[in-house]
Amino acid sequence: MCGIVGYVGKAPVVETVLEALRRLEYRGYDSAGIAVLNGRGIEVRKRVGKIEALVESIRRQPIRDGHIAVCHSRWATHGEPTEANAHPHTDCKQTLAVVHNGIVENYAELKSQLLAKGHRFRSQTDTEVIAHLVEEYAKREPLDCAFRHALKELRGSYAVCLLSKHEPHRLFGAKNSSPLIVGVGKREAFFASDVPAILGRTRRVVYLNDHEVVELSASGPRLTTLDGKRLHRKATTVAWDVAAARKEGYPHFMLKEIHEQPATIEQTLFNRLDAGKRRLTFDRRTKQFLDRLSPNEKFIVIACGTAYHAGLVGEYMLEECTRIPVDVDLASEFRYRGAQLGRDTTVIAITQSGETADTLASIQMAKAHGAKTLAICNVMGSSIARAVDAMLYTHAGPEIAVASTKAYTSQITALALLTLYLAKRRACLPPAQWRRLFDGLAKLPEAVQRALETERAVKAVAGEYARARNFYYLGRRYNYPSALEGALKLKEICPVIHAEGYAAGEMKHGPISLIRKGWPVMFVAPHSSVYEKVISNIEEVRARKGACIVIASEGDPAIKRHADSLITIPRTEEFFSPVVAAIPLQLFAYYVADANGCDIDQPPNLAKSVTVE
Ligand code: G6P
Repeated sequence: MCGIVGYVGKAPVVETVLEALRRLEYRGYDSAGIAVLNGRGIEVRKRVGKIEALVESIRRQPIRDGHIAVCHSRWATHGEPTEANAHPHTDCKQTLAVVHNGIVENYAELKSQLLAKGHRFRSQTDTEVIAHLVEEYAKREPLDCAFRHALKELRGSYAVCLLSKHEPHRLFGAKNSSPLIVGVGKREAFFASDVPAILGRTRRVVYLNDHEVVELSASGPRLTTLDGKRLHRKATTVAWDVAAARKEGYPHFMLKEIHEQPATIEQTLFNRLDAGKRRLTFDRRTKQFLDRLSPNEKFIVIACGTAYHAGLVGEYMLEECTRIPVDVDLASEFRYRGAQLGRDTTVIAITQSGETADTLASIQMAKAHGAKTLAICNVMGSSIARAVDAMLYTHAGPEIAVASTKAYTSQITALALLTLYLAKRRACLPPAQWRRLFDGLAKLPEAVQRALETERAVKAVAGEYARARNFYYLGRRYNYPSALEGALKLKEICPVIHAEGYAAGEMKHGPISLIRKGWPVMFVAPHSSVYEKVISNIEEVRARKGACIVIASEGDPAIKRHADSLITIPRTEEFFSPVVAAIPLQLFAYYVADANGCDIDQPPNLAKSVTVE
């Protein structure tokens, strides 16, 4: 939530930071602002709305360029999205500018102390206290000490960058439970909330830990602890390339990312699945971790949003094939439910960003209670990746659209790898069944490629139902999570529609009361062990004149007479059907949203990375 960019270097700074900020717009987009140090001192410009509004304002009335700047795109937490509340925030004399992502929980207390000392506030944000706090300490000590001193006063989470009129060659930055990275280029350096911001300028990244402070000059970062003790860390080179952070001819990132899925699933499998030898492996640390699990191990999967739905699919996979008991919890609930954790519990976090506040806090809580931790995560070096005992990276590349697509199918793929690895080690499956599932996994990219061929048909069906304002999505067993995810996709990107996912067997316990003529119900009904049961549920809807859109497997001639609209996907083992079914569900949401003129990549009120609780 919120995108931060800071830059020191020789390039024209306004253009450089705005370009980087555009690549972070998925993190928040209710207002944006920039502070540049130039011949006139610190010049600040802010606009409500998307970054384009800020860019347009600068186009009309240019800011004098400089070589050091900070900028920010906001997702409001404290204070409405107004110009006054947009970042950067300055101190009383405009000698300092601060951008911040996170929540300063004790801001009210700090603010009243600062007001008593005569500081003048211009916004309702929690962030502004940081600028005044640094200003206050800087009256008595050098800026770096004042910055550290101020950070020690903050409770809550922060990723913060500071620009000072008196420091024309250095920025200051620090983080605690909110993401901030350093990009090291040729005689230039960046602060950014996430790697896509700096791709195209550099791929050399220094990942920061909580409570570390950085002085950033064009020659690179100088890291210290909050107490000023020097730290040394080398930059790592990230594998993502700049094309991954561009639309590459697609009208939206979401559509591009939907189409990337055969390749991203391949990437998740790469180096782990050896099709020739029918063998699965993981990196040494993860393999050791898995090999040492107790025979009585219990898994608790925690996640938010789409990642939670991937976790639900994992529950079916793991329980069916490994007999390990699995609980799946929303991270925001897990933290408060008093789960019984111990040495034989592994808490598995599923997260695209690796930064979701509730998921991170759940992992920290699990560790504090002595549980083991594993993460399925897309972003290397993210807070969750660094917090856990073992990692399973999804390697899906940067996901920019707010609505998650390729991360979801890669998460399920990673869960399938985990399941089949453990099933083999524990000899839980008959060998022939294991081989069938292994071969299915090896061929999953191909099945997904074929599922993409449904695009034209899905677009046509989406056109038929685009004017509906309520949808149900129903499925059973492995495709119950598919129904939840399909509905979530639609309501995320098409805010004029209400969509609800339900277990098909539960429909009779409530939702059916609303069904009337033409009410659209999306059934996820591929070939499966519960196929007949789903058909009965379809008939229950049809008996009430609901309109059934059915996603079914190829080679199922009988389904036609149960469906008002039919979308067929490649036939796979039930185990893989949520991955293949995800494709038409994502495309359907996309084309319905497109027909309704929605802002697909940046839907209102949502943010890609939810770094507040
Ligand atoms: C937000 C995003 C979702 C995502 C969820 C969890 O709500 O909009 O797409 O599924 O956060 O994020 P994570 O990065 O932990 O997977």
